[in-house]
Formats: sequence, C-alpha cells, structure tokens
Amino acid sequence: MLNILYRRRSIRKYKPQKLDTATVQQLLKAALLSPSSRGFQPWQFIVVEDTELLDQLALAKKGSGFIKNAALGIVILADPATSDVWVEDAAIAATILHLTAESLGLGSCWIQIRERYLETESCEEYVRRILGIPENLKVASIISMGYPDQSKPPYSDQDLKFEKIHLNMYGSKFE
Ligand SMILES: Cc1cc2nc3c(=O)[nH]c(=O)nc-3n(C[C@H](O)[C@H](O)[C@H](O)COP(=O)(O)O)c2cc1C
Repeated sequence: MLNILYRRRSIRKYKPQKLDTATVQQLLKAALLSPSSRGFQPWQFIVVEDTELLDQLALAKKGSGFIKNAALGIVILADPATSDVWVEDAAIAATILHLTAESLGLGSCWIQIRERYLETESCEEYVRRILGIPENLKVASIISMGYPDQSKPPYSDQDLKFEKIHLNMYGSKFE
C-alpha cells in the first residue's frame, strides 16, 4: 500500500487504449468495497465509456478537458437522504478508485464537481443534465482513468511534511 501511495500521482494524459472488461470490473469491485458511515453506502457510480459523453464531460468545468482522452470516467453520485455524511463517503469511494487505478497500472485524476461552478450553472447541474441523473442524487466528483501517457516522479520521504503531525498535544513535535 505505501508503494502505491508514493507512486500515485494525478495523471491527465492517457493512451488511446481502452480498458478491458476485467479491469473495469476490478475498479468497480474496489468502489463497492469502500467503507461508508454506518455501512449505509449512499453512493452510486456511472461508468462513462462513450466518447461523445466523455467529450461533453470535458466541458463540465474549467480544467476537466483532459477527460476527453480518458478511457473512461467514473462519476460518483451520492444520496443525501441515505446518509448525512455522504460527502465523506463519496470522497472515500473516489480515493479508493484513484488508488486502485494506480495498483492496476492505470493513470487517473480526480475531477471535483461538487461546489464547482460554470458561468451559467453549477458543474453538478451540467453533469446531471448530460447523464440524466435524478434530482435526489448529488454529483460529487468524476475519476478519469486510462493507461498513462505521461510519467510523473513518485513522492519520496523528502516530500513529507512531518511538521503537520503533533504528538499527543497540538504543537508538540513528533520526532
Ligand atoms: C478533492 C480533490 C479535488 C480535485 N479536483 C481536481 C480537478 O477538478 N481537476 C484536476 O485536474 N485535478 C483535481 N485534483 C487533483 C489535485 O490537483 C492533485 O491531487 C494535486 O495537485 C496533487 O498532485 P498529485 O495528485 O499528483 O499528488 C483534485 C484532487 C482532490 C483530492
């Protein structure tokens, strides 16, 4: 797991190669294994493979253009009526997908949708309209995925900000 965490980077350039069904299945199993508060599992997922839909999702926000060239995007939805902490549950599922992608040799990137806005509507409204998502479900984020067409250096111990960690009491250094 630590190796995956050091290697994981946000990858925004993808090869044209599509993912096979077994790989997509593994990603979806990982998403469905995500922990959620009280086990309520308020999330749902839309796997978007259709290239025209990916082109439209590329316009969902400033800075989501790279999903155009992804093999797929997994849209993470959540039902606030199922859990009051759906934001956390949806973020955990997104993280699990991002890390599982790394473990499978895929590149992926988080695209934030919740609380992000286009000029005339929210990013959430845009994605809801494009994908026919019912009003009762929130659109949290999208994870774009594909075989990486860029390499980024892994993290090393030099990148770790140990000053953010306190021992027992706030302000007491962990050394
Ligand atoms: C909650 C969250 C929202 C993010 N939203 C976006 C986004 O909308 N677009 C994007 O290109 N990257 C997005 N990212 C990726 C971050 O920019 C990236 O994780 C950060 O710059 C660190 O780089 P690294 O992932 O390579 O370590 C998001 C990441 C997180 C955790």
